[in-house]
Amino acid sequence: MSKQHDIVASQDNANEYDEDTIVNPSANPHFEDVLAARLSRRVALKGGITTAASALLGGSILSACGSSDDSPAPAPAPAPAPAPQPAPLKIGFNAVAKNKNDLVTVADGYNVSILHALGDPMHFGDESWKDDGSETADSYNRRVGDGHDGMYFFGLSDAGAFDAKRSDRGLLAVNHEYVVAPYGLHPAGRATGAARNATEVEKEIYAHGVSVCEVKRDATGTAMSMVRGSKYNRRVTSATTMDFTGPAKGSAQLQTLFSPTGVQTRGTNNNCANGYTPWGTYLTCEENYLNVISRAAGDDALRSGAKEVASLSRYGLPQNRKSPYLWETAGTADLFARWNSSVTGAAATADYRNTINTFGWVVEIDPFAPDSVPAKRTALGRFNHEGAWPAEAVAGKPIVIYMGDDSRNEYIYKFVSKANWDAADVGKGMAAGAKYLDEGTLYVAKFNADGTGNWMALTFGANGLTAANTTYAFADQADVVINARIAGDILGATKMDRPEWGAVHPTNGEVYMTLTNNNEANRVPPTSTPTGRQAKPDAANPRYYEDMKGTASQKGNPNGHIIRWKEDAADVTKLTWDVYLFGAQADAAADVNLSGLADSNDFSSPDGLYFDKRGMLWIQTDDGAYTDITNCMMLAALPGKVGDGGVANAAGGTQTIAGAKATSDTLRRFLVGPKECEITGIAMTPDYKTLFFNVQHPGEESTPDWNAKTFGSYWPANQADPTVKKRPRSATVVITRKDGGEIGI
Ligand code: FEO
Ligand code: CA
Ligand code: CA
Repeated sequence: MSKQHDIVASQDNANEYDEDTIVNPSANPHFEDVLAARLSRRVALKGGITTAASALLGGSILSACGSSDDSPAPAPAPAPAPAPQPAPLKIGFNAVAKNKNDLVTVADGYNVSILHALGDPMHFGDESWKDDGSETADSYNRRVGDGHDGMYFFGLSDAGAFDAKRSDRGLLAVNHEYVVAPYGLHPAGRATGAARNATEVEKEIYAHGVSVCEVKRDATGTAMSMVRGSKYNRRVTSATTMDFTGPAKGSAQLQTLFSPTGVQTRGTNNNCANGYTPWGTYLTCEENYLNVISRAAGDDALRSGAKEVASLSRYGLPQNRKSPYLWETAGTADLFARWNSSVTGAAATADYRNTINTFGWVVEIDPFAPDSVPAKRTALGRFNHEGAWPAEAVAGKPIVIYMGDDSRNEYIYKFVSKANWDAADVGKGMAAGAKYLDEGTLYVAKFNADGTGNWMALTFGANGLTAANTTYAFADQADVVINARIAGDILGATKMDRPEWGAVHPTNGEVYMTLTNNNEANRVPPTSTPTGRQAKPDAANPRYYEDMKGTASQKGNPNGHIIRWKEDAADVTKLTWDVYLFGAQADAAADVNLSGLADSNDFSSPDGLYFDKRGMLWIQTDDGAYTDITNCMMLAALPGKVGDGGVANAAGGTQTIAGAKATSDTLRRFLVGPKECEITGIAMTPDYKTLFFNVQHPGEESTPDWNAKTFGSYWPANQADPTVKKRPRSATVVITRKDGGEIGI
């Protein structure tokens, strides 16, 4: 952030995104609300189930009340009066129909407004978005970035500290995963030519990363606006200086011209999903960093040997590989040259051969300290990090964080801290991060066919991860975390159907993770012999089928599924799993539609996932298989628990363990997004009255006509007025209930 824009917090609460709020007309009370109130009283009176969460775990609410609801409840004992019980959680909105509208269509009774979109200025002194790509490159150090993705809401106290209970004022941290090439940033898409235009590339470098902005409710409601000019508003970009911490800090594999000692780097990139810590910091996760990293022809021969080449290959960077963004072609300035991960100097301290190793990490940012230096926490391993989801912190127990490597046939990981949680560390920012995230054990998951699973430690010296290993001779723990994928290969981890988001059930601690899809090149038929990194279906990734109903035939597991597991209470290396939910079209064959999805809740390619503290699970889609029928969507779910279903035979003939089938009471579509977008990123205020989600890359699949100004989507400008036609932009959406109540129930 430059000095001239480091402006003190302003009283001006104007939202830069000024399209009118859409108001849905209906706020009728729902039948479910009435039923919930009734059921609540009955559950309390019968005394058999003591909490809302446990009421759900034994089965659906309908089965809990269906058998005896018509008979009078037994008369309550005259004394003592039963203690008041919380109402059982019920989904309380009507399902939104699948549609292809160029709008956010949310359930009746809810409002939609836009918090911020690509290019909105976060400070005073920069002009508003002009819709013509004329914004300066430098101004993107102070504007909202592109490709909104994972995010988190941190309550902000009057004293400027983290307050986990505060709902009316907070800091919203948002990932800006990538720039949507045809739209938004530049005057008329990306300039053509072998070398990139330097101004365009500089703008793109600043439009990646993370934004932190203060958000505030006005006095009249639960909707939120960005506080423009707040002293907390901050951009972290692909050029921001950050530290390496943990076992890989100072490793020779992290040495660069910028940091010859390997203790710092610049930039976080392709920040997909996220996490948060109980001490009040944000975790942003580096996923598709190969978008921006190139490697020269003939580079293998210049490397130190086979081990270094094996690492580059396993992380997807063969020699003579040009990145899609070609940032390194924009000029010889360090800002650009560093994206060429090739040997160009006499030593690693004189070039950027190690750029590849400086990405693929979990990065911690303290949103409450705008001048703090972000840290790449290397103990959590290097891979295509989708996100980092913490289990509930328990005093005196380690911090546990679950992670997935979002590539086809990659692995699921968890990190268990060495230090035990002490609630006195809340608010201690990066110092607390150093305490909990720099020392611990990284594990990789194996899912066995019988429903059990194993967490295998990626610890140097254990499990064959030694210098004597004939596949890859590990030098130390730095080598293990930098090459976590290779360590996972050696340990026989289970190849998954692209791990995306995770979420931990707030009361029973079971962990859910979306496996968004897999294709025929990687998840091959059960009858074939896999080669390379291909995998046959297995119990945890069981389906192989052909989706003939989409715009094009897709084979493999085109609709994805959601796995879940329960940790063993006594042994940190053991788990029990099932498949909670299978994505499918409602009219698919029974061995594809294994979860019994219907029109009100069918979906494809689950991606974003979020448990609110009440126990409602929110599922978002990033789909390319069902898009002839519907745009991407968000659903609300009330899951049961591991083992609530049974053995099932999946399409292709592989046996699996499926969770209980979904019903309209346990899974319901809440909203549908605009054209050609992905729905991603979920955050909620602690009072459940404001929900944030992101629309990423609306209109991305169409080729724009810059003269006629025709685009594949005109969202978000058209949300309030369908006749408005402006460039599509990624944006954060605010959902509130028209009557001000809790969302979803
Ligand atoms: Fe950026 Fe894994 O989706
Ligand atoms: Ca994602
Ligand atoms: Ca995705």
